[in-house]
Amino acid sequence: MKDKKVIVGITGGIAAYKAAELVRLLVRAGADTSVAMTANATRFVTPLTFEALSGNRVVWDMFGHEGTSIDHISWGQDADLIIVAPATANFIAKMAHGIADDFLSTMVLAATARIMVCPSMNSKMFENLAVQNNLGQLKEMGVAVMEPSEGELACHTEGPGRLPEPEDIFEQAWALLLRQDLSGLNILVTAGPTVEPIDPVRYITNRSTGKMGYALARAAWRRGASVRLVSGPTALNPPYGVTFFSVKTAEEMRQAVLKNRTDCDVIIKAAAVSDYRPKESARHKIKKGADRVTLELVKNPDILAQLGSKKKASPCVLVGFAAETKDLLDNAKEKLKAKNLDMIIANDVSRDDAGFESDTNKIKVIYRDGRVEDAPLMTKDEVADLVLDRIKPLTG
Ligand code: PMT
Repeated sequence: MKDKKVIVGITGGIAAYKAAELVRLLVRAGADTSVAMTANATRFVTPLTFEALSGNRVVWDMFGHEGTSIDHISWGQDADLIIVAPATANFIAKMAHGIADDFLSTMVLAATARIMVCPSMNSKMFENLAVQNNLGQLKEMGVAVMEPSEGELACHTEGPGRLPEPEDIFEQAWALLLRQDLSGLNILVTAGPTVEPIDPVRYITNRSTGKMGYALARAAWRRGASVRLVSGPTALNPPYGVTFFSVKTAEEMRQAVLKNRTDCDVIIKAAAVSDYRPKESARHKIKKGADRVTLELVKNPDILAQLGSKKKASPCVLVGFAAETKDLLDNAKEKLKAKNLDMIIANDVSRDDAGFESDTNKIKVIYRDGRVEDAPLMTKDEVADLVLDRIKPLTG
């Protein structure tokens, strides 16, 4: 979000405290973030909190701040996005009816920026026809309305009306700031390791954390794709907006991928699948006894090779990752050919700053026609966008 200007508008609801985390996430992502509050919002959280988090002046009094006399006009016209979170029923009504009686409502009325509203209130209030009509009116005006989540509310009732988690608002906001250039595409991503049980307490696995695959799924969703993520066990939360399938073994991953492949335009296999599994998985914990124990391993199915062999019957863009510690290009090219792929991402996993576990990655993109593109060291989020940029022209 480095070149983006975002305004967070905070209105007077108990969920105003959650806006602090939203501002922190936006600032951390590099957005130039400013905050405007209603007078009631300042009763819940002080402007000083937001000033410290955003590093910018916070405005809540139309006539009392040290800006220029046209801030209420220029703010909303210089920004890329305005997020009103939380948005009270009162503020939503004012927006829907063009009422401008303080800085925030006046700024929103004059704005040319994209606007996103996150309603937060008691569920009966939210379900009230007046609020629903006002929200309908906002949608007609082109405002993005993020549905509240359900659950326990501050008024000790249950139902819709909770402000969504700041991380989810952040993701939705990010998607609004991006060109939806992958819209209409169904993308399946695999991520993480597989685990192959030896007995009920031990297993064979690898060092994959899922970071690369999750970054791909998140980036594809933000750019408008419909995304399914099949993941082995990781410590990560499923990315917002993505349909998530949790698996453990290579065989479970194979079944989940085959079940979901039919309507896919693109399949990206970033998962580190165990090539072998123990021939037998003991029903009970293997007891310590003999000085040496031999574990017999058998080959797992190669999921990507299976997809490649059925490419004629179910055509889609097939992208693999090749994790290598030597002869990177030769090995990756061989895998591309053997598995009948459209593209393979060669990953030198002998480096500390690339491959498994790290937040950065160093890749080479290898195309079916033999072309190779060497990318510089980048964050996994940046790698994800680069890989998607290179895949997009192949989707025809
Ligand atoms: O998860 P992180 O910690 O972020 O690490 C990222 C990563 C290093 C795991 C990732 O960038 C990566 O390189 N993933 C591929 C790892 C791997 O298993 O590579 P491979 O060369 O063994 O397999 C080649 C391709 O075949 C891969 O797309 C793999 O998903 C697929 N495969 C492999 C074996 C198998 N039985 N079935 C498969 O589908």
